[in-house]
Amino acid sequence: MERIVILTGAGISAESGLATFRGPDGLWEGHRVEDVATPQAFARDPELVQRFYDARRARLAEVEPNAAHRALARLDAEWPGALLIVTQNVDDLHERAGARRVLHMHGELNSAWCRACDARHPWEAELLPEPPCPSCGEAGTLRPDIVWFGEMPYAMDRIDDALRACDLFVSIGTSGAVYPAAGFVQTARYVGARTLEMNLEPSLGSVWFDEVRTGPASALVPAWVEEMLRR
Ligand code: APR
Repeated sequence: MERIVILTGAGISAESGLATFRGPDGLWEGHRVEDVATPQAFARDPELVQRFYDARRARLAEVEPNAAHRALARLDAEWPGALLIVTQNVDDLHERAGARRVLHMHGELNSAWCRACDARHPWEAELLPEPPCPSCGEAGTLRPDIVWFGEMPYAMDRIDDALRACDLFVSIGTSGAVYPAAGFVQTARYVGARTLEMNLEPSLGSVWFDEVRTGPASALVPAWVEEMLRR
Protein backbone atom coordinates (compact mmCIF):
# COMPACT_ATOMS: atom_id res chain seq x y z
CA MET A 1 0.00 0.00 0.00
CA GLU A 2 1.51 3.34 -1.06
CA ARG A 3 2.42 5.77 1.67
CA ILE A 4 1.08 9.17 0.66
CA VAL A 5 2.00 12.74 1.63
CA ILE A 6 -0.31 15.47 0.35
CA LEU A 7 0.68 19.13 0.50
CA THR A 8 -2.11 21.68 0.12
CA GLY A 9 -2.05 25.45 -0.34
CA ALA A 10 -4.42 28.36 -0.78
CA GLY A 11 -5.57 27.09 -4.19
CA ILE A 12 -7.55 24.25 -2.61
CA SER A 13 -9.65 26.76 -0.65
CA ALA A 14 -10.03 29.27 -3.51
CA GLU A 15 -13.27 27.73 -4.75
CA SER A 16 -14.69 27.96 -1.22
CA GLY A 17 -14.28 31.73 -1.55
CA LEU A 18 -11.03 32.29 0.39
CA ALA A 19 -8.50 34.53 -1.34
CA THR A 20 -5.13 33.09 -2.37
CA PHE A 21 -1.98 34.98 -1.35
CA ARG A 22 -0.49 35.76 -4.69
CA GLY A 23 -3.43 37.06 -6.66
CA PRO A 24 -3.04 39.13 -9.81
CA ASP A 25 -2.74 42.39 -7.80
CA GLY A 26 -0.04 40.87 -5.55
CA LEU A 27 -2.07 41.79 -2.48
CA TRP A 28 -3.62 39.56 0.17
CA GLU A 29 -7.08 40.90 0.98
CA GLY A 30 -5.85 44.42 0.18
CA HIS A 31 -2.60 44.21 2.16
CA ARG A 32 1.01 43.56 1.28
CA VAL A 33 1.93 40.25 2.95
CA GLU A 34 4.87 41.89 4.76
CA ASP A 35 2.51 44.44 6.37
CA VAL A 36 0.40 41.79 8.08
CA ALA A 37 2.26 38.47 8.08
CA THR A 38 5.60 39.18 9.73
CA PRO A 39 6.66 39.50 13.39
CA GLN A 40 7.97 42.97 12.49
CA ALA A 41 4.53 44.05 11.28
CA PHE A 42 3.00 42.79 14.55
CA ALA A 43 5.58 44.65 16.63
CA ARG A 44 4.98 47.86 14.63
CA ASP A 45 1.18 47.80 14.50
CA PRO A 46 -0.37 44.99 16.55
CA GLU A 47 -3.86 46.42 16.14
CA LEU A 48 -3.72 46.33 12.35
CA VAL A 49 -2.45 42.74 12.39
CA GLN A 50 -5.01 41.58 14.98
CA ARG A 51 -7.81 43.28 13.06
CA PHE A 52 -6.65 41.64 9.84
CA TYR A 53 -6.62 38.13 11.35
CA ASP A 54 -9.87 38.75 13.24
CA ALA A 55 -11.46 39.43 9.83
CA ARG A 56 -9.89 36.29 8.30
CA ARG A 57 -11.14 34.21 11.28
CA ALA A 58 -14.66 35.68 11.04
CA ARG A 59 -14.72 34.89 7.32
CA LEU A 60 -14.36 31.17 8.09
CA ALA A 61 -17.96 31.15 9.33
CA GLU A 62 -19.13 32.24 5.87
CA VAL A 63 -17.41 29.56 3.79
CA GLU A 64 -17.72 25.82 3.36
CA PRO A 65 -15.34 23.04 2.32
CA ASN A 66 -15.50 22.32 -1.41
CA ALA A 67 -15.36 19.10 -3.42
CA ALA A 68 -11.55 18.97 -3.21
CA HIS A 69 -11.54 19.09 0.61
CA ARG A 70 -14.29 16.48 0.71
CA ALA A 71 -12.43 14.17 -1.67
CA LEU A 72 -9.25 14.34 0.46
CA ALA A 73 -11.33 13.60 3.57
CA ARG A 74 -12.73 10.54 1.80
CA LEU A 75 -9.24 9.39 0.84
CA ASP A 76 -8.10 9.92 4.44
CA ALA A 77 -11.02 7.82 5.71
CA GLU A 78 -10.68 5.02 3.16
CA TRP A 79 -6.94 4.79 2.46
CA PRO A 80 -5.62 1.92 4.60
CA GLY A 81 -1.96 2.89 4.27
CA ALA A 82 0.02 5.75 5.73
CA LEU A 83 -1.29 9.15 4.69
CA LEU A 84 -0.57 12.68 5.85
CA ILE A 85 -2.17 15.91 4.67
CA VAL A 86 0.26 18.76 5.29
CA THR A 87 -1.50 22.05 4.75
CA GLN A 88 -0.04 25.53 4.48
CA ASN A 89 -3.56 26.84 4.96
CA VAL A 90 -4.67 28.41 8.21
CA ASP A 91 -8.36 27.76 7.52
CA ASP A 92 -10.19 24.76 8.99
CA LEU A 93 -11.76 23.44 5.78
CA HIS A 94 -9.88 20.12 5.72
CA GLU A 95 -11.15 19.33 9.22
CA ARG A 96 -14.67 20.54 8.49
CA ALA A 97 -14.75 18.22 5.48
CA GLY A 98 -13.89 15.38 7.88
CA ALA A 99 -10.16 14.85 7.31
CA ARG A 100 -8.29 13.68 10.40
CA ARG A 101 -4.68 13.15 9.40
CA VAL A 102 -3.97 16.87 8.93
CA LEU A 103 -0.96 18.98 9.98
CA HIS A 104 -1.11 22.78 9.83
CA MET A 105 2.49 23.73 9.16
CA HIS A 106 1.67 27.48 9.09
CA GLY A 107 -0.63 27.46 12.13
CA GLU A 108 -4.38 27.95 12.41
CA LEU A 109 -6.74 30.91 12.49
CA ASN A 110 -8.81 29.16 15.15
CA SER A 111 -5.97 29.06 17.63
CA ALA A 112 -4.47 31.75 19.87
CA TRP A 113 -0.97 31.63 21.30
CA CYS A 114 0.03 33.38 24.52
CA ARG A 115 3.44 35.04 24.27
CA ALA A 116 3.66 35.20 28.08
CA CYS A 117 2.98 31.59 29.11
CA ASP A 118 3.31 29.82 25.71
CA ALA A 119 -0.14 28.19 26.01
CA ARG A 120 -2.25 27.65 22.90
CA HIS A 121 -6.04 27.82 23.01
CA PRO A 122 -8.75 26.99 20.48
CA TRP A 123 -10.01 30.46 19.53
CA GLU A 124 -13.01 31.39 17.43
CA ALA A 125 -13.64 34.87 18.84
CA GLU A 126 -11.76 38.09 18.14
CA LEU A 127 -8.37 38.93 19.62
CA LEU A 128 -9.25 42.64 19.76
CA PRO A 129 -9.88 44.22 22.22
CA GLU A 130 -7.19 42.24 23.95
CA PRO A 131 -8.80 39.41 25.97
CA PRO A 132 -6.83 37.84 28.84
CA CYS A 133 -5.07 34.54 28.26
CA PRO A 134 -7.26 31.75 29.72
CA SER A 135 -4.14 30.07 31.16
CA CYS A 136 -2.13 32.87 32.78
CA GLY A 137 -4.70 35.68 32.90
CA GLU A 138 -2.38 38.25 31.28
CA ALA A 139 -4.02 40.67 28.86
CA GLY A 140 -2.39 41.76 25.61
CA THR A 141 -0.29 38.64 25.26
CA LEU A 142 -2.39 36.56 22.85
CA ARG A 143 -1.45 36.55 19.17
CA PRO A 144 -2.79 34.63 16.20
CA ASP A 145 -1.24 31.14 16.21
CA ILE A 146 0.02 31.71 12.68
CA VAL A 147 3.53 31.11 11.38
CA TRP A 148 4.63 34.43 9.90
CA PHE A 149 7.45 35.02 7.44
CA GLY A 150 10.73 34.60 9.24
CA GLU A 151 9.25 32.14 11.78
CA MET A 152 9.77 28.39 11.91
CA PRO A 153 6.93 26.28 10.44
CA TYR A 154 5.36 23.73 12.78
CA ALA A 155 5.94 19.98 12.91
CA MET A 156 8.88 19.98 10.51
CA ASP A 157 10.33 16.79 12.05
CA ARG A 158 7.10 14.85 11.54
CA ILE A 159 6.73 16.21 8.03
CA ASP A 160 10.30 15.32 7.14
CA ASP A 161 9.85 11.77 8.50
CA ALA A 162 6.67 11.31 6.46
CA LEU A 163 8.31 12.68 3.31
CA ARG A 164 11.33 10.41 3.69
CA ALA A 165 9.04 7.39 4.07
CA CYS A 166 6.55 8.19 1.29
CA ASP A 167 5.95 6.51 -2.05
CA LEU A 168 3.74 9.22 -3.47
CA PHE A 169 3.90 12.99 -2.94
CA VAL A 170 1.00 15.11 -4.16
CA SER A 171 0.96 18.90 -4.18
CA ILE A 172 -2.39 20.69 -4.56
CA GLY A 173 -3.12 24.39 -5.04
CA THR A 174 0.19 25.89 -4.06
CA SER A 175 2.36 28.29 -6.05
CA GLY A 176 5.65 26.79 -4.88
CA ALA A 177 6.85 30.27 -3.87
CA VAL A 178 7.35 29.69 -0.14
CA TYR A 179 9.98 27.45 1.46
CA PRO A 180 10.30 25.03 3.13
CA ALA A 181 7.03 23.67 1.66
CA ALA A 182 8.22 24.41 -1.88
CA GLY A 183 11.15 22.04 -1.29
CA PHE A 184 9.11 19.03 -0.13
CA VAL A 185 8.88 17.70 -3.67
CA GLN A 186 12.66 17.47 -3.84
CA THR A 187 12.87 15.49 -0.60
CA ALA A 188 10.21 13.13 -1.92
CA ARG A 189 12.04 12.71 -5.23
CA TYR A 190 15.29 12.09 -3.40
CA VAL A 191 13.81 9.05 -1.66
CA GLY A 192 12.32 7.78 -4.93
CA ALA A 193 8.68 8.76 -4.43
CA ARG A 194 6.40 9.43 -7.37
CA THR A 195 5.37 13.09 -7.49
CA LEU A 196 2.13 14.63 -8.76
CA GLU A 197 1.09 18.28 -8.92
CA MET A 198 -2.50 19.48 -9.26
CA ASN A 199 -2.84 23.23 -9.70
CA LEU A 200 -4.73 25.77 -11.75
CA GLU A 201 -1.51 26.46 -13.64
CA PRO A 202 1.98 24.92 -13.49
CA SER A 203 3.59 26.11 -10.23
CA LEU A 204 7.08 27.58 -9.89
CA GLY A 205 8.31 24.09 -9.00
CA SER A 206 6.36 22.12 -11.59
CA VAL A 207 9.55 20.84 -13.31
CA TRP A 208 10.20 18.73 -10.22
CA PHE A 209 6.99 16.71 -10.63
CA ASP A 210 6.67 13.46 -12.56
CA GLU A 211 3.13 14.45 -13.48
CA VAL A 212 1.39 17.83 -13.61
CA ARG A 213 -2.38 18.14 -13.90
CA THR A 214 -3.72 21.64 -14.46
CA GLY A 215 -7.25 22.76 -13.65
CA PRO A 216 -9.47 23.63 -10.70
CA ALA A 217 -8.91 21.56 -7.57
CA SER A 218 -12.64 20.86 -7.21
CA ALA A 219 -12.50 18.82 -10.44
CA LEU A 220 -8.96 17.38 -10.35
CA VAL A 221 -8.86 16.17 -6.76
CA PRO A 222 -12.11 14.14 -6.73
CA ALA A 223 -11.09 12.48 -10.01
CA TRP A 224 -7.66 11.59 -8.61
CA VAL A 225 -9.14 10.23 -5.34
CA GLU A 226 -11.53 8.10 -7.35
CA GLU A 227 -8.53 6.70 -9.28
CA MET A 228 -6.63 5.94 -6.09
CA LEU A 229 -9.54 4.16 -4.41
CA ARG A 230 -10.49 2.18 -7.49
CA ARG A 231 -7.05 0.59 -7.90
N1 APR B 1 -7.61 25.04 -8.03
C1 APR B 1 -6.28 24.74 -8.00
N2 APR B 1 -5.31 25.65 -7.87
C2 APR B 1 -5.68 26.93 -7.76
C3 APR B 1 -7.04 27.34 -7.76
C4 APR B 1 -8.02 26.32 -7.91
N3 APR B 1 -9.33 26.60 -7.93
N4 APR B 1 -7.09 28.69 -7.63
C5 APR B 1 -5.82 29.12 -7.54
N5 APR B 1 -4.96 28.07 -7.61
C6 APR B 1 -3.50 28.07 -7.55
C7 APR B 1 -2.84 29.32 -8.08
O1 APR B 1 -2.65 29.18 -9.49
C8 APR B 1 -1.55 29.36 -7.30
O2 APR B 1 -0.50 28.67 -7.98
O3 APR B 1 -3.15 28.02 -6.18
C9 APR B 1 -1.87 28.62 -5.99
C10 APR B 1 -1.97 29.52 -4.77
O4 APR B 1 -0.72 30.06 -4.52
P1 APR B 1 -0.45 31.11 -3.34
O5 APR B 1 -1.48 32.17 -3.37
O6 APR B 1 0.98 31.51 -3.44
O7 APR B 1 -0.72 30.25 -2.02
P2 APR B 1 0.24 29.22 -1.27
O8 APR B 1 1.12 28.51 -2.24
O9 APR B 1 -0.63 28.41 -0.39
O10 APR B 1 1.11 30.19 -0.39
C11 APR B 1 2.05 29.64 0.49
O11 APR B 1 2.56 31.77 1.43
O12 APR B 1 1.86 33.85 2.27
C12 APR B 1 2.29 32.57 2.58
O13 APR B 1 1.98 31.45 4.61
C13 APR B 1 1.31 31.81 3.43
O14 APR B 1 0.73 29.47 3.42
C14 APR B 1 0.98 30.59 2.59
C15 APR B 1 2.22 30.44 1.74
